Amino acid sequence: RDDPQIEQLISKMTLEEKAGQLTILADTIRPCNPDINPEVNHRQADEMVDQIRRSRVGSIFNGVGVKEGREAQRIAIEETRLGIPLIFGSDVIHGMWTVFPIPLGEAASFEPSIAEQTARATALETTASGIHWTFAPMVDVARDQRWGRVAEGSGEDVFLGKAFAVARVKGFQGSDLRSEDALLSTPKHFAAYGGVSGGMEYNFVEISESTLRDVHLPAFKACLDAGALTLMSAFNDIAGVPASGNKWLMTDILRGEWHFKGFVVSDYTADEELVNHGFAADGRDAARLAFTAGVDMSMQSGLYVDHLPDLVASGQVSLEAVDEGVRRILSVKKAIGLFENPYKCLDLKREESLEKIKSGHDELARESARRSIVLLKNEKLLPLKKSGQKILLVGPFASDVDNLHGCWTVYGDKKRAVPVDVGICMKSKDVEVLQGCNFEASTDRGIDEAVEAAKRADVVVLAIGEPEDFSGESQSRTQIVVPEAQQKLAEALAAAGTPIVVLLRTGRALAISGAVLRAEAILVTWFLGTQTGPAIADVLFGDYNPSGKLPVSFPADSGQQPLFYNAPRTGRPQGNGDRTFKATWREVHSKALFPFGFGLSYTSFSFATPLLSTSTMGWDETLKASVQVSNTGERDGEEVVQLYIHDCVASRVRPVRELKGFRKVLLRAGETQKISFELRRLDLSFHGADGNFQAEPGEFHLWISSSSAAGEPVKFQLMPASVA
Ligand code: IFM
Repeated sequence: RDDPQIEQLISKMTLEEKAGQLTILADTIRPCNPDINPEVNHRQADEMVDQIRRSRVGSIFNGVGVKEGREAQRIAIEETRLGIPLIFGSDVIHGMWTVFPIPLGEAASFEPSIAEQTARATALETTASGIHWTFAPMVDVARDQRWGRVAEGSGEDVFLGKAFAVARVKGFQGSDLRSEDALLSTPKHFAAYGGVSGGMEYNFVEISESTLRDVHLPAFKACLDAGALTLMSAFNDIAGVPASGNKWLMTDILRGEWHFKGFVVSDYTADEELVNHGFAADGRDAARLAFTAGVDMSMQSGLYVDHLPDLVASGQVSLEAVDEGVRRILSVKKAIGLFENPYKCLDLKREESLEKIKSGHDELARESARRSIVLLKNEKLLPLKKSGQKILLVGPFASDVDNLHGCWTVYGDKKRAVPVDVGICMKSKDVEVLQGCNFEASTDRGIDEAVEAAKRADVVVLAIGEPEDFSGESQSRTQIVVPEAQQKLAEALAAAGTPIVVLLRTGRALAISGAVLRAEAILVTWFLGTQTGPAIADVLFGDYNPSGKLPVSFPADSGQQPLFYNAPRTGRPQGNGDRTFKATWREVHSKALFPFGFGLSYTSFSFATPLLSTSTMGWDETLKASVQVSNTGERDGEEVVQLYIHDCVASRVRPVRELKGFRKVLLRAGETQKISFELRRLDLSFHGADGNFQAEPGEFHLWISSSSAAGEPVKFQLMPASVA
């Protein structure tokens, strides 16, 4: 209210113009991806120009290109009554033209600084391509690996997820939102989308308020504190109230408790879907409910343009509320500098320099990709020799370029993508490549040929896993396993007897079994993007010592889902082995096969017992915890040192362990380093039985270890406030 320019504009706007400002529509003027589909439909493009001229739309999304973008902006500025600039948004999740690892893979690096750098590089390419705003980062905590969107976030942990979420916001937005290369970010999906029941896409979410507040909301709050000015409301409900019509969430918490000043955009037609939820009677009712709950900008449904004027006229929505929504959107447009320079991000010269910008990102793409790879198993097979060892590279992903970017790469420059075979052949001349079997069809095609080739080889590198479209939006699975045809290929190759290295491509945790699990070495390679081949080759041949750790627990069986390391304690925990009347399954134990935080290196590390500055931590005291970590092997290597806690007795059942700190450190062969952490009362706090966020005095366990399942705990007491 204290910005005269914005207040003046609002005072001049008609109700229809205000509703237009509260609307975002899919870009039909510009192509979505010029490489895939350069044509635009002229009729649809003309219709959109007409909508802009009539001020029925204030923002457009998922189109690219500066020339047409400039023209659309010119129409908004010069041919509408008030000349309010458009904002161009898009889904740029893990790279624009240069594709970086899927966010889940990048989280495996346990290096938020890498995510900040890749987000910055993404911002440079995106803003040079006519886009101001990205619908990222996806910060949903995903604890059921059947859910396809696990790939887009940072996994199952709150602390790790928060660190990556903040890094990405900072990277996208840079240090000055007004600058030409600042990309406005949108943490999504507000909220608890990662809690969909059974991992089924768009399903209901039945969680408690404390789980919502302790697990699903912290990353959003952290992003807002880091400067994010927009949020996207989710498709799902929360305990029966759809998120996109949830006043408690979007007004009471977001505005009341968090004092958020930016705007909320709905997910694609999420407002209209309130009707499908059975929460709204019709489109008009849906517009009323979504808007009054706190969705400022309606995506794609057009419901606000169609109904808000009438809803205001009939007194069901107040004009003040509409003005407030418009004020929030105009304030963000102003904050990113569009009022000063409406042609921001629409510079033809900058667009022409894109090739140079992109090629400057190859090294970062390779670095982030190799740092994301996780070594699950190595029976002295890796690293491979560059000569004197005959290598068979086989499998559906051996030379494939269509499945290395991963989900939600709307743009991604496929021409620059380097597949696995090219990367490997750059390092060794002794490689035979067989593209081998289909991704999922259960045929035996190619298996005999692969087995014959394996018999001639010293080592088989087996590139298998999930194709690109198995993860991402609307890609939930019931069986999170290697597809049948590929499993068959693995079994046949194992029978041939040549040692196998599995390169496991995936957008989620998989339950691996049989010959895949028995392989001598397993590398989880996610979807690594543009530099997939070189990054994998760096690790395979030991030019980079793997340092990634799992950001999601790999289960022993699909039926264990949802399975995550930081689950609450049960009354009948399974110890070692016994199943009877214990919290476990008939067919399988209750543990992960490869737990959160797990990942090997070509060297070995040992952890001493952690040392604490005190065993009785005062209420306002900072506890210092340290550990001596040694590289006990013969190679230099990086280890992710992880600090976990457990609150032993509390008013609400606490997770068996919770990550509260991590540091990736480089240790030279034979070197020992002391790694220190600090813990404050805030780090021990949670929403207790009375609903308050606080720490509860009493005993805590603390681990500093190499994974969520390693190490022995040391104990300390949090003393009550009254004890000085
Ligand atoms: O940003 C996305 C969202 O994550 C899923 N639905 C569509 C939106 C816009 O493309």
